[in-house]
Amino acid sequence: MEQRPLGRTGLSVSRIGWGTVKIGRSTGVKYPDAFDVPSASEADWIVNAMLDLGITLIDTAPAYGLAEERLGGALGSRRHEVVLCTKVGEQFENGRSTHDFSAASTRRSLELSLRKLRTDAVDLILVHSDGRDIEIQTETDVVETLQDIKKAGMTQAIGFSGKTPDGAAHALGWADVLMCEYSIDVQTHAAVILQAAEQGVGVLLKKVLGSGHLPAAEALDHALHSAPVASTVASVVIGSLSPDRMAANIRMAERP
Ligand SMILES: NC(=O)c1ccc[n+]([C@@H]2O[C@H](COP(=O)([O-])OP(=O)(O)OC[C@H]3O[C@@H](n4cnc5c(N)ncnc54)[C@H](OP(=O)(O)O)[C@@H]3O)[C@@H](O)[C@H]2O)c1
Repeated sequence: MEQRPLGRTGLSVSRIGWGTVKIGRSTGVKYPDAFDVPSASEADWIVNAMLDLGITLIDTAPAYGLAEERLGGALGSRRHEVVLCTKVGEQFENGRSTHDFSAASTRRSLELSLRKLRTDAVDLILVHSDGRDIEIQTETDVVETLQDIKKAGMTQAIGFSGKTPDGAAHALGWADVLMCEYSIDVQTHAAVILQAAEQGVGVLLKKVLGSGHLPAAEALDHALHSAPVASTVASVVIGSLSPDRMAANIRMAERP
């Protein structure tokens, strides 16, 4: 599969990345159909099948329930094959999400993520915003803490996954990478995506299939091949439990 540079991070990522919400959490999510979180052995199979497809970007988060633990168990010696992205700011425990962007919580969150993922360092850490995009960046210690964590070599790159174009634009002041929602239905981030690309900030797209509520072929074609995202976005991150559907998504990405 085509690999694209992730801005100026020095990382390269597959045109289709894999989002791992569904291997870790089945409650409080917005997917159209109910599903069960895979067992550890089912997750092993899914993770390996996704890597066999040529996917080199995996997006996870503490907020995705068991996802980090499942990934850590499955990746093993294949850890080096992927750019591993996790997040800080949201925790999911006992069926409930909580948010904390303090320095202490950010460091504790990363420590736990590294333990669950069974790795010494991740490649990318994103702030997992709860929607208070500007406030989180200006009134908490999360940005400074991530900058220190990066300096200490625990990640190669840092960035922001938020909800508002204003929040994304603010993050251009410090982030290596932005993760933005973009789909046939939601194009509010179009201008900031262009701006990011001009500044060498890597862009990842999320929710391009509207979390499964949009017609998949049409929605994916739009996210991959329409202006302005076709040339500016490094990777389109799709959530799935199905290597077959991800293979179809990759075929779509490889279509000229
Ligand atoms: N705040 C944040 O940072 C944030 C928020 C949202 C998402 N994300 C990241 O972005 C990723 C993607 O977002 P998302 O998972 O919400 O939604 P999405 O990628 O827009 O849609 C995922 C849904 O589409 C289905 N699907 C995938 N390929 C398909 C195909 N070819 N045909 C039909 N259905 C298909 C999947 O079902 P199957 O399992 O049946 O394939 C799944 O239910 C997440 O997994 C996560 O990593 C981050």
